[in-house]
Amino acid sequence: MKRQLHLTVGMRLLDVGCGRGSFLNSLHREMPSLRLFGLERDVRRALDAMRLTEASVLVGDGQVLPFRSGTFDRVVLGYALHHMSPSVRGRVLAEIARVLQTGGRLLVIEKAAPRGWLERLGLSIQVLSGGEDRQVYSLFGEGLTGELEAAGLSVLSDQEVKRRRVASAVPESHTRNR
Ligand SMILES: C[S@@+](CC[C@H](N)C(=O)[O-])C[C@H]1O[C@@H](n2cnc3c(N)ncnc32)[C@H](O)[C@@H]1O
Repeated sequence: MKRQLHLTVGMRLLDVGCGRGSFLNSLHREMPSLRLFGLERDVRRALDAMRLTEASVLVGDGQVLPFRSGTFDRVVLGYALHHMSPSVRGRVLAEIARVLQTGGRLLVIEKAAPRGWLERLGLSIQVLSGGEDRQVYSLFGEGLTGELEAAGLSVLSDQEVKRRRVASAVPESHTRNR
């Protein structure tokens, strides 16, 4: 995943829904020059992240990012989108497009849709037993690109790495200017 971020010295990176900060922590270990920020709405997880990482971690909701437009070179959404309703996702993605600078890049890492009848059957059982959300799988099976574009982001690549779906996107204003 880190390879896909194309990181260079001193970049400013925001992890939205950073959880307990494990991704930020591993980024810092590999590249201490990065200026790292995390945003997490769950106070306990945010406190854990503050203890674990050197990053500046804030408690907040990704729908209203407390940063000026064009602040970041990179934004990461790691397994966070599927916690959000469609309307929340739209607002979070639009905020990310705003805080990315020209040439900035968003990396989305998410679950992939089930493949084949056996996986679909397994998912149906999980959905019926209340353990999973069908909508999540249809979103990441088909709709992720559309949601990114609706938020003003142009998709650079959309691929599956093992059972994860990885999309990389830039603000549309940037692709228009190229
Ligand atoms: C599955 S965890 C992933 C944590 C981390 N990104 C990782 O990959 O290990 C998803 C996190 O997103 C956070 N989250 C969900 N919706 C959010 C929102 N609207 N604003 C900020 N954080 C949010 C949740 O509280 C949770 O900690």
